[in-house]
Amino acid sequence: MNQVYRPIIWRDEKLFLLDQRLLPDQEVFVEIFTLQQTVNAIKDMIVRGAPCIGFSAIFGLALWIKNQNDVTPEICRKACDEMIEARPTAVNLSFEVNRCFELMTSLLNQGCKPSEIFPKLVEFGNQQIQLSQTKNSLMAQIGIDELIKRFGQRKWNLMTHCNTGFLACGSIGTALGVISMAHSQGRVNHVYADETRPYMQGSRLTAFELTKEKIPFSLVVEGAASYLLSNGKVDAIFVGADRIAANGDTANKIGTSTLAIVAKHYNVPFYVVAPISSFDVSIPNGSHIEIEMRPMNEISELKGIQLAPQGTATVNPSFDVTDHHFISGIICEKGFINPANKGELLKVVHS
Ligand code: MRU
Repeated sequence: MNQVYRPIIWRDEKLFLLDQRLLPDQEVFVEIFTLQQTVNAIKDMIVRGAPCIGFSAIFGLALWIKNQNDVTPEICRKACDEMIEARPTAVNLSFEVNRCFELMTSLLNQGCKPSEIFPKLVEFGNQQIQLSQTKNSLMAQIGIDELIKRFGQRKWNLMTHCNTGFLACGSIGTALGVISMAHSQGRVNHVYADETRPYMQGSRLTAFELTKEKIPFSLVVEGAASYLLSNGKVDAIFVGADRIAANGDTANKIGTSTLAIVAKHYNVPFYVVAPISSFDVSIPNGSHIEIEMRPMNEISELKGIQLAPQGTATVNPSFDVTDHHFISGIICEKGFINPANKGELLKVVHS
């Protein structure tokens, strides 16, 4: 993907985030100088998507330590906790932040000053983005191999929900990575992208990415799933994840669970594609996942236009949990997991 479309750029000791709130109309980068600005950028969804939230947090902590004269592990922990609180559902945030905390405390114990820890955090952030290219490509090939096993060499019709491409992942992507690589191998007939109400990640972001990659697609409303699946228009569905519990229950963008249930009904395979940083095996099942509640006006307004009578109450959960019984396979960089096989997930995660 063209350098210009990388959503996170570290250059000249500064963090630049592509303001995803303005897409697809405008491609504007916001310059971030502080921890607080990084926290706000994550909260306000200037940057979003589980992996990119985690990567941005690493650079946010680098910016923070750059401006400290003297720090202790306790002070570092406070900064890390502030970062983790920015958004609650995607575990990638705490996964990366906790790794930064370990790095900071280990360097402090070796007698390093904040000015010496700063470049190490930057290096760590760049490394993680770089590594995600390899991991996402591995996952994409595992997804393709699975489709070849199921459907052979014919071209496939695929469906996806929310946004899981380079805007969410900083590289080829997770679910959209499978689609993108399959397309580059000439294996995709057509893609159906859910618009993803209410924040429209599908129409604003996935459609933007599919257009840039010249992948043939149609944008559909979420309610079209039953129509499309019952008419045989979709061979398989690929989605990302924000947190995967030890039994395979998966939190992802609101609407994912509905789609998985419809897929099961029509016998359409439903796959979750996510790196190990999206797994939280400390929780036994999805009931332990905190679901972020977003502001009411994300539903009742669109770009300042009132869509419902003034004062209409809304409930806006940003994620839901898909029961592992509805998931045909979870694909991570370590391999393919069938959540129906008890214990397989833990074995793969710890391999
Ligand atoms: O609220 P968002 O836009 O950050 O939610 C993004 C999603 O739910 C994605 O599907 C998920 O993070 C997987 S990203 C590879």
